[in-house]
Amino acid sequence: MNQTSRMAGATARPVRIAVFASGGGTNLQALLEHFQGAAAETARVVLVVSDREDAGALDRAERAGVASRVVPVRGRDEDDVARDTLAALSDAEVDLVALAGYLRLVPAEVVRRYRDRILNIHPALLPAFGGKGMYGARVHAAVIEAGCRISGATIHVVDEEYDRGAILLQWPVPVLADDSPEQLAARVLRVEHRIYPLTVEAVARGLATGEAVRPLSLPDAVAFGLVDADGPDEAEVRRALGLL
Ligand code: GRF
Repeated sequence: MNQTSRMAGATARPVRIAVFASGGGTNLQALLEHFQGAAAETARVVLVVSDREDAGALDRAERAGVASRVVPVRGRDEDDVARDTLAALSDAEVDLVALAGYLRLVPAEVVRRYRDRILNIHPALLPAFGGKGMYGARVHAAVIEAGCRISGATIHVVDEEYDRGAILLQWPVPVLADDSPEQLAARVLRVEHRIYPLTVEAVARGLATGEAVRPLSLPDAVAFGLVDADGPDEAEVRRALGLL
């Protein structure tokens, strides 16, 4: 019996979430608060995993009273990392994993064992501006350099490649004139904190009832909030181009 079918018969217990983080962990914080508050009956963050002993995320876990585990990655065999990661997840009886600023590729064996139960948030509109090495300020610098006027955040299922799994939710964020990468990052991060906990909650609810993960749809009024659903009218285009 796989984990999902086992859970389908055991909906009484909250879904157990592990958060993987390499850095400061503001998304982890948003998840901790969400699942220690209103959503506690649906799911709990029961474990924080980091590849770095000095990750700020570990302090956040401690302050929240959540167990943590450091699984070093640098210079180690993928098989060893996979074994340690799977042991940590199984010891804590984890059902669902949320990557939140985790800078390492999740070992293929872990992806296989937790297929469709590992999520990630990326601070741009994938599949653009993703992939190996595309993290932090580099993402936002690339978006600005490319001249994009809209960026956003993407929540997707994790597969064996960086930033390539099925997209669950994207939220648009405007790129303003003269934005620095830091300004754009801060604007995107605010959106991340709003959308990630709710998306993880939605996936956890589905998991508890045995549903497969599927794309979540934004209401058109939100998805097209920046760009009118009917497309801009001629006058707007003229105005934007300075043709009036
Ligand atoms: C976020 O921008 C997230 O999208 C990306 O890494 C960053 C992590 O920030 N994957 P934080 O550690 O949650 O503050």
